[in-house]
Amino acid sequence: MVIQDISFTLKDGRKGLIRSPRDEDIPGMLDYLYVSAGETEFILRYPEECVKYTPEGEKALFDRVNASENEAMLVCLVDGKVVGNCQIVWKTGLKTRHRAAVAIALLKEYWNLGIGTRMFQEMIRIAEENEHILQMELDFVEGNTRARALYEKMGFRITGIRPNAIRLKNGTLLNEYSMIREVRRAEKIS
Ligand SMILES: CC(C)(COP(=O)(O)OP(=O)(O)OC[C@H]1O[C@@H](n2cnc3c(N)ncnc32)[C@H](O)[C@@H]1OP(=O)(O)O)[C@@H](O)C(=O)NCCC(=O)NCCS
Repeated sequence: MVIQDISFTLKDGRKGLIRSPRDEDIPGMLDYLYVSAGETEFILRYPEECVKYTPEGEKALFDRVNASENEAMLVCLVDGKVVGNCQIVWKTGLKTRHRAAVAIALLKEYWNLGIGTRMFQEMIRIAEENEHILQMELDFVEGNTRARALYEKMGFRITGIRPNAIRLKNGTLLNEYSMIREVRRAEKIS
């Protein structure tokens, strides 16, 4: 699905733009994927794994997600540069369509400026507007205190632990935590 453009102000006073991805974002998205992978161990890819991302692949992804009825990708631009993205995708089976998975990552230079908060507000709005979605789900890697703080602020709570889910190049094993946020809607008065 495609969302309406959202203009907002970062904590440092700069202007941010959150919107659905466009073809013009492809070079910026490829840069973001590669750079962000080298900035934190909490993203599930190493920079050298980004060779699989190509302009053609990104275009096909943007086109597919923008046309999808159960998925949205949001990019954030600051001064015209792609600084991060997030995704929300919900299942379509009758038994599981109440569940939406979300994920987010930003370039390090843009952490702690309120972008994650604004992107989550939009993903929550998308979930609330879908009558079937009852819960939002995500995972974070042990030690990611910034992500955990953001998720708890947005109403998520830890529901489980997957031991040794992540293995770094140096052999370090890290747990992954699952979180859920219930989607509550105002009762309709008939
Ligand atoms: C996690 C991430 C998406 C958060 O986005 P963000 O734009 O930096 O988040 P925000 O600025 O909106 O909010 C972060 C909140 O956490 C707080 N915070 C930051 N660092 C913290 C820490 N170490 N401990 C506790 N709270 C912290 C901030 O004060 C802020 O709260 P506030 O708005 O009430 O002051 C971003 O830092 C990121 O992309 N990190 C790397 C990739 C990643 O880890 N992705 C998540 C994978 S699960």
